[in-house]
Formats: sequence, structure tokens, C-alpha cells
Amino acid sequence: MTEKMAKLTIGDKSFEFPIISGSVGPDVIDIRSLYAQTGMFTYDPGYTSTGSTSSAITYIDGEKGVLLYRGYPIEQLAEKSNFLEVAYLLLNGELPTRPQFADFEKTITRHTMLHEQIVKFYSGFRRDAHPMAITCGAVGAMSAFYHDSTDITDPRQRQIASHRLIAKIPTTVAWAYKYSIGQPFVYPRNDLDFSSNFLRMCFAVPAEKFEVSPTVARAMDRIFVLHADHEQNASTSTVRLAGSSHANPFACIAAGVASLWGPAHGGANEASLRMLREIGTPDRIGEYINRAKDRSDPFRLMGFGHRVYKNFDPRAKVMQETAKEVLGELGVTNNPTLQVAQELERIALQDEYFIEKKLYPNVDFYSGIILDAIGFPTSMFTAIFALARTVGWVSQWREMIDDPTQKIGRPRQLYVGAEARQFVDISAR
Ligand code: SDX
Repeated sequence: MTEKMAKLTIGDKSFEFPIISGSVGPDVIDIRSLYAQTGMFTYDPGYTSTGSTSSAITYIDGEKGVLLYRGYPIEQLAEKSNFLEVAYLLLNGELPTRPQFADFEKTITRHTMLHEQIVKFYSGFRRDAHPMAITCGAVGAMSAFYHDSTDITDPRQRQIASHRLIAKIPTTVAWAYKYSIGQPFVYPRNDLDFSSNFLRMCFAVPAEKFEVSPTVARAMDRIFVLHADHEQNASTSTVRLAGSSHANPFACIAAGVASLWGPAHGGANEASLRMLREIGTPDRIGEYINRAKDRSDPFRLMGFGHRVYKNFDPRAKVMQETAKEVLGELGVTNNPTLQVAQELERIALQDEYFIEKKLYPNVDFYSGIILDAIGFPTSMFTAIFALARTVGWVSQWREMIDDPTQKIGRPRQLYVGAEARQFVDISAR
């Protein structure tokens, strides 16, 4: 079959570039030879039209509100699967058989403890340190402890590092919470499933027997599934760029944690709940809608809008249903924050501004309401997002490192600074 080609005409010259098709979704124009052929770069700040890699892990259709993990729709995985099974799927490309899952679960379970020296790291932080600051520091510090899994050229070490990161991030995040409230660390238990173990490490205290609510554990697990991966978002792109320099996996994931922290990205779940609380009652929604529409006001509706989803974020729909279920089963009726959120969504989706700019609730709009109902402070929301996204970051990092053709990421620029000029001594300035 003849190769499809894209033609670029500059002045009186024409240049051709191959068009490559994936298994589904938009084709790409392979412009790797553009600079060599034309002496020009493409220009795409924010990467609105740039494919940075090929990947077989997650597919998003922003127009249709489709999200597939290795081909499986997020709605089906959220309803029928569990986070550790999704982790296996994202890492390995296929859903596990029963023996494969049992082996994987045993491996992860046995890596949940942190090196006891890392415990001492926590006492170096202020008690009011943000959990994301602690998580970023602790994950980066792991490269100082697990030297037997930092050689990225060794597939076995890559696998061990992947398992360690997925297994230890819940303990790391739970202990950041315990440290912030001055309670003793609760060590992981091997007889609990992934999400129940995390909840127990967060909420158990030595003085009492702690039973994890199956409803809460199920909701927690579903939140993890919904946040596990999302194609080449800002934090995943950060992990891939760090990994392209062959930095060790712990350093790469710490870079992902740092990038996710921003309120335009993973930090939006914390900012969204704060915004809903600040609005307080449905009668004040109009004031905030007007501020969001005012270009002179930097305020944006947190939890609204998305670079890719221009109809709806399928995760937000599942999250909204889960919020109603969890609040109902926890006996939290007439939750004012949920009422404000639902009314805000209703009003915004009827407003010309939001319709024209295709702004819909995203994954961060409802998640905070569930986490708040479970008992987490808002400061923990993004760290919980990072816990789940570690599976996606590790999977995407593995996919990149496994690709023998991978080069170091090195974008170029449009230079708009001073042209060459002679130094002037300070006496003459
Ligand atoms: C996540 O990429 C991913 O996949 C991320 C994520 C993942 O799973 O990894 O899905 C997780 O990060 C979700 C997004 C969480 N962030 C927020 O909820 C913060 C609020 N949202 C915005 O900051 C914004 O919508 C972004 C950052 C999410 C998307 O920004 P884009 O794609 O660069 O869009 P834009 O900023 O160019 O906005 C387009 C227009 C602008 O107006 P104009 O300049 O054209 O007049 O829409 C406006 C924006 O001002 N706009 C909003 C808005 N979001 C965009 N106006 C009011 N409120 C908003 N929330």
C-alpha cells in the first residue's frame, strides 16, 4: 500500500513527510526530518497539536468522551475490575489470569514496607508540610535506598523498581497524612487488599481496632482506577522526559509528583473542593460563574475544562455516581458541597460561555467530595491522585525505556532574545 504523505510548501519549495496511522484515533505527520529538510522547527507551545511519542497504553477520544486502558473502557474497569488488576493491565498490556493476578498481588503486597531509615525523613519536615512536598521528597529519596533497582538497562531491575514504586507509594502517602496530624505511623498489613491497606494506614490508631468499611474501600479503589493513567498529560510527559535522560525510576516518578502538584493539573481536586466550599451555597454560584467568564479575572472554575475532553470527561460521570453512592451509604444526606457542585454543573452547562468554550466537569470536580466524605483533608487529595497515577507513570516509563529507538527528549525553540553583542564593562554602563 503506498505510504500516505503530507506535503508542505514553503515559498517555491515543496517538502513531503510520511503520515502514520495508529490503531485508532488521529493520524500523525512524521516531521522528524523537518529541520534537516527545511532548516525550520515546528512551533507548538503547550503541545496542543504535537504527538510526543507512540504508545499502546491509554487512548482518549476527547470529542466522544472515550477513555480506554489497553482497549478496555474506563466505565467497565471502574465497575467490574479493581485497582491492582488495572495496574497489572497497564503494566503488561493484558488482564491477568487468576494465577497471574495472585502472583502480582503477592509481589506488590510484599513490597509495601519502606526502608526504616526513610521513616526518619519524615521527622525532618514541619508538621504542616504539604503531603505533596513530603511525597515528592520521599519518592526521590528512594533512589538513595534501593540501589539494586536503579540500573535502567537491566530489565529485571526495571521490573523490581516498578513493583516497589507501586507498592510503596500508598505507605509513603499514608505516612505523610499521619505525620501531618501527629499520629503514629501504621505499618502495612499483608492480609488486606491494596485499597483497604491504604485506608487502614491512614485512619487506624493504636488504641482501637480498625475495620475498613467495604463501601469506602470500594470507593477508594474506584477513585484509584479512575486516576491510574491518562495518556501524555503534563506529569506523564514529565516522567517520560526525565526518563529519556536515563535518570533512575525513583527520580523520574518524583518529577511526575512535582508536575502533578500544580492546580492546573492534579492540584485541581484540592482547589476544586476549596472553591466549592468558598461558594458555600447555591445562591452564590452566579457570582463565581461571572468571575470565571471575566477575562480580566484570573479565577477559573476548578475542576472544569480539559485540554482533550471537549464534551465530557467520562471519569467525571463515574465520579459523580460514586459520590452519590458513598454519601448515601455513609448516611451523609444533603451534603451542601455536593449540592453546590451539582447546581454549579447544571448552571455552567447551560451557560453560553461554557458551551462555546466546551468546558465540562473533569475528573477533579467530584473526586474531592468523595475524599472529603471518606475523611481526608483537602491537602491529601493531590497526594492520593499521585498514588494512583504512579501506576500510569511507571507503565509509561517502562514503555519508553523498553523502546530501543527512544532518544533523549530535547525540544528546540523560537529565539526572541538579543542578537550577538559585545560585553560592556561595568565602568562603562
Ligand atoms: C487534570 O491532561 C490531562 O489529561 C490532565 C488530567 C489527567 O488525568 O492527567 O485529566 C488531570 O489535570 C484535569 C484538569 C484539572 N485542571 C483544572 O480543573 C483547572 C481548571 N481548568 C483549566 O485551567 C483548563 O481548563 C485546563 C488547564 C484544564 C485546560 O487548559 P487548556 O486546554 O490549555 O485550555 P485553555 O486554558 O486554553 O482554555 C481555553 C479557554 C480559555 O479562554 P480564552 O483564552 O480562549 O478566552 O477556556 C477558558 C480559558 O480562559 N477556560 C476556562 C476554564 N478552563 C478553560 N474558563 C473558566 N474556567 C475554567 N476552568
